[in-house]
This record gives sequence, C-alpha cells and structure tokens, in this order.
Amino acid sequence: MAKEKSVYTCTECGGTNAKWLGKCPHCGAWNTLVESVAESAGKPRYAAGRGLLPVEAVSTLAEIEATDADRQPTGIDELDRALGGGIVAGGVILIGGDPGIGKSTLLMQAAAGLSRGGHRVVYVSGEEAVAQVRLRAQRLKAADTVVLLLADTIVEEILATLGYDKRPDLVIIDSIQTLWSDMAESAPGTVTQVRTGVQALVKYAKSSGAAVILVGHVTKDGQIAGPRVVEHMVDAVLYFEGEGGHHFRILRTVKNRFGPTDEIGVFEMSDIGLREVQNPSELFLGERNAKAPGAAVFAGMEGTRPVLVEIQALVAPSALGTPRRAVVGWDQPRLAMVLAVLEAHCAVRLGQHDVYLNVAGGFRISEPAADLAVAAALVSSLSGLALPSDCVYFGEISLSGAVRPVAHSAQRVKEAEKLGFGQAVLPSLSADLPKGRDVTIHEVEHLPDLVARVAGGAGVGGDPTRRTAED
Ligand code: TYD
Ligand code: MG
Repeated sequence: MAKEKSVYTCTECGGTNAKWLGKCPHCGAWNTLVESVAESAGKPRYAAGRGLLPVEAVSTLAEIEATDADRQPTGIDELDRALGGGIVAGGVILIGGDPGIGKSTLLMQAAAGLSRGGHRVVYVSGEEAVAQVRLRAQRLKAADTVVLLLADTIVEEILATLGYDKRPDLVIIDSIQTLWSDMAESAPGTVTQVRTGVQALVKYAKSSGAAVILVGHVTKDGQIAGPRVVEHMVDAVLYFEGEGGHHFRILRTVKNRFGPTDEIGVFEMSDIGLREVQNPSELFLGERNAKAPGAAVFAGMEGTRPVLVEIQALVAPSALGTPRRAVVGWDQPRLAMVLAVLEAHCAVRLGQHDVYLNVAGGFRISEPAADLAVAAALVSSLSGLALPSDCVYFGEISLSGAVRPVAHSAQRVKEAEKLGFGQAVLPSLSADLPKGRDVTIHEVEHLPDLVARVAGGAGVGGDPTRRTAED
C-alpha cells in the first residue's frame, strides 16, 4: 500500500498546501494550517471503458416546471427577514458566530415558534445534554412545546434516528464542530470531519425535503475548523454578531440561494432570551449626547431597511511619530481614503493627529455611503464645533473630492424625518427625494462644501487652540 501522504489544511478556509506555512496562502489567516491525512481519490467508480450510458434526463429550462420555494416562517420576524421569508423545505442554512453569542438561544426560540405552528422540529445537540437544553428552553418559555431533542454527535446515528420516524420539517444541528462521522478518520472538529458530516446532512436534506440548520462556531485558533470551510456546501449562510459589552445582536445574511443577501435581523439579548428589535434606529441612537463635537448621524441602509447610527470621531494631536488610526465598526482603508481626500482637497491637516473612529452601539457599517458622515464627524472633532443635533448625513466620497449620490435617498430621508430629524446633508443630484417633507435638504457637490458647512471659518488646519462646544 502506498504511504499515507499528509497535507496541511487551513481551518479558516479549508484550502490545502503541501507544506506547513505560518500564513495560509489561500485566505491569508495566520496559524491556521493543521496537518491531516490526504484524502485519496479512491477507486474510480466509473472505470474507463465500461461503456457508461448517457444520462437521459437532459431537459431544457423551459420544460422544467417552475416551483416557487415554499417558505415556513419561524414566527421570529427578524430571523425570517434575514432568511428572506422563512425556512425552505430541503434547504440547508448555516448560522455562524462566536461562542456564547446566542446561536443556541436563537435556534431554540425558532424551534419553539415552528413547533407551535404545528411543524415537527428535531433539535440535535452535540454540546449539551438534553437536560441542559431543556433548562434553556424553560428560561425561554419554550419548555411546553413538542420540540424533539436528541443528544448525539455521530452523523450516521443521527441520520438513522431521523429516518426512523416521520420526516421532520426542520432539523437543527448544534454544532457542526462536534459532528463525527465514521467515513472520515480524523478527529471531530477537523476540516475533514466537519465537511464529511455536513455533506451527509446536505444529502439528507435534499433527499428527504427536511430543512436543516447547522450551527458553526467561529474559531479563534487553528485547531478547530470554522464555519467558512462549509459555506460553499449550504444554501444560506448567516452570521450572528455582537460586540462584547453590548446587548444587541445582528443576524447578517452573507449568502442566500433563496433570497436577498443584504438583510439583517436585529435582536437584543435579555434574561428571557432574544428580543426582536423592530426599529433599530431608535436603539442605536438611544444614548446619544447630541452636543459633543465629533458625532455625526449617518442615515444608512441595511438591505431594505433604513438604519440611523451615530458615528463618533476623535481627532487629537499625536505624540507619536506615526499617528494612530483606530476604527471600530467601519473599514480601516476606507477611513484612510476619507482622510487623504480631506487633506488633498480640503486642506484639512490631519497628518499630526491621532484619529479614532467609532460606530456607536457596536454596529458595523459596510456601506460607502457613510463617507460623508465620517468626514463630517472628523471635521467636527478637529474644529471642536458640534454638528447640529437634528441633522443626518450620507453620501459617497470619490478620490477627486466629489460627493456622489447613493441609492435609496428617499428612504434614508424619510427615516430621519420619522425620528424627528430636521435636516439632511446629502449629495446633489440625489434621485427620488420625497416631496412635501419636513426635512431641510442641504446638497453638497464637493467635499470642501461640507467642510465649510461644518467648520465655517474655524481653523481646520490643525489649529492648536481647539475650541469646545461650551465656548
Ligand atoms: P448561547 O445561545 O448558549 O450561545 P451560543 O450557542 O452561541 O454559544 O447563549 C449564551 C449566552 O447568552 C450566555 O452567556 C447566557 C446568555 N443568555 C441570556 O443572557 N439570556 C437568555 O435567556 C439565555 C438563554 C442566554
Ligand atoms: Mg450553543
């Protein structure tokens, strides 16, 4: 027999390499390559020369009957929104997130909701004993439901148990890292085991028509495979996120074969489980100190929903040779770009200043439309002049210093109006602005217009005698 070859597999992305490296050549993660036995190709099943017959079932698109995905709402609106309406029969959904973020809590609540609606739900727990799961359900006021519990980690056993009785509508697997299959030789939690287990479950979902939700822990070190190694095998991928110290959680869709991918669901963790947050803007603007310089309200969009968040900037003279740039909740390269445009086109000197940028409440923004709000917050902090407290900002900044229109201006302005804001600073030529509104619109065409609006005649060239709001 040939000697077993080993390969090094990345636990982040699943990429393989023949040699060990400190940094994964595929995804760039550090210290994630672990040694494993190379999977042999096995015996060819379709040996050459056996005269394979062509598959008959080749049909044209027009011939295939159109069936719309049949969705079952879970009864948790924020979860359904992120899923694009509910779970789809035969669909496989992966929910990833840091340990302790609330994945098991969310799924127990969803299981209870579906089970109350008359659906058959099986919750397979590989991490906790059924008594522990029941204890959590009790806390969530879900202990009276008929959710079926199974504490098992062996894939073949789980599948045999599921096939024994009536087909469930939904199977929840908590978590993929505890799965163990007879078909693979490596230890639980390795890339091979996680993939083999998920593959078997995907096959089960497709053949039986039961929906499957898989829980995957995002891992910090390279020993256990993360959820990314199976992202390509499933129909939908959602990540459950939250900042340490904050109570709210955001469920973000990154892949969805049955629906949109830019939707978010917002929850708040309470002592009786996750509470849905219908109006996230109110939550994110809740503890605002409107008088402080350096704070700007950004009118953002998350999927189909407008979300207002506060962006806070602190610009302070630096004692270091290379000033610090720290960002929480936004993109570091994007901040560097806004700073460069401010320097190059608006004569705002920030080269000798530390810059800290924070999105309030632990929210994370991925839209370029936040550029204008970031610039406003930066200039406000540098000049020491607070921005008007009833004003929102949005718009994309291009490298030439032009402010470019962004999509959904009308919805952003309407949301601001709904929450009592009286002014909006936005790109000129913004389409579809609402008529007959109570919000005063200030159009800016170039970034220097915004700087003039924010700082007026105040020194923004790094004036050491900084003014404060009280002056
Ligand atoms: P859990 O769902 O077990 O996280 P995960 O499955 O993602 O690892 O949630 C763990 C945290 O949530 C734990 O620190 C306790 C907290 N929690 C609440 O605050 N309220 C609750 O009602 C429940 C069930 C958990
Ligand atoms: Mg859990």
